[in-house]
Amino acid sequence: RKKLPLVNKKVLVTAGPTYEAIDPVRFIGNHSSGKMGFALADELASQGADVILVAGPTAQKSEYKSIKRIDVTSAAEMLDACLENFDSANACIMCAAVADYTPAHVAQQKIKKTEDHFNIELKKTTDILKTLGQQKRDDQVLVGFALETNNEEQHAIDKLKKKNLDLIVLNSLNDSGAGFKSDTNKVTLIDRQLNKTTFELKSKAEVANDICLAVVDLLNK
Ligand code: C5P
Repeated sequence: RKKLPLVNKKVLVTAGPTYEAIDPVRFIGNHSSGKMGFALADELASQGADVILVAGPTAQKSEYKSIKRIDVTSAAEMLDACLENFDSANACIMCAAVADYTPAHVAQQKIKKTEDHFNIELKKTTDILKTLGQQKRDDQVLVGFALETNNEEQHAIDKLKKKNLDLIVLNSLNDSGAGFKSDTNKVTLIDRQLNKTTFELKSKAEVANDICLAVVDLLNK
C-alpha cells in the first residue's frame, strides 16, 4: 500500500471569520462560512497530516477525529493560537477571513442608544499571515488566500511577496459559484516563481485536494 504523503507532517490551518467585540453583546464580523478551511483540514487529515485547525466562530464540523481544533473568537486570539503552533508546523494554510480592524476600546457595559450618531473607533489588527511570513524558516511552507474583486492576479502576487508566502490561492469574487458561503470554488494557484495554475469551478473538497497536492510538492522540494 502507498504511504500517505503527509504522515508525520504537522499542518496549521485557520478557518472562518473573526468576531471583534464592540461591547458585551455586539461585535463586528463577516460572512465567512469556514467551509474552505474545514474542507482543507479534512483533506490534509485524509493524507495523513497532523492537523491543527484554528477556527473562528463557525457551524462547520470536521470529518476526522484526529484534527486538533482550537476555537477562537477574535483576530488577537487567532494570532496567539497560530504563534503557539507555528514553530512545530511544517506547513501553514491561512484560510480565515480575519477582521482587518477591531474596536480600539471595548465598552464594559452594553452601549445605550442615546446618541443620534455614534462612532466606533477602529484600530488595525495584526496581520497573522504576514507575521508568520516574517518568522518562516526555509523548511516551512506558508500558504495564503487572496479574495479579490479587481486586478486579481497582480494583487495576489503583491500579497505573495509582501507576506513572504510560498503559495497564494486566488479566488475571484467575479466568478459565480466561488466565494464565502458557496460549496464550490474556482481558484488560481500562484507560487514564488510566479507559476500559475487555474482550475475549473469545483467542490471545495476537490479544491482542497488541489491545494493539498501543491503543498505536498512544496514540502518535497
Ligand atoms: O491582505 P489580505 O487580508 O487580503 O490577505 C488575505 C490572507 O491573509 C488570507 O490568507 C488571510 O487568512 C490572511 N490574513 C491573516 N491575518 C489578517 C489578515 C489576513 O492571516 N489579519
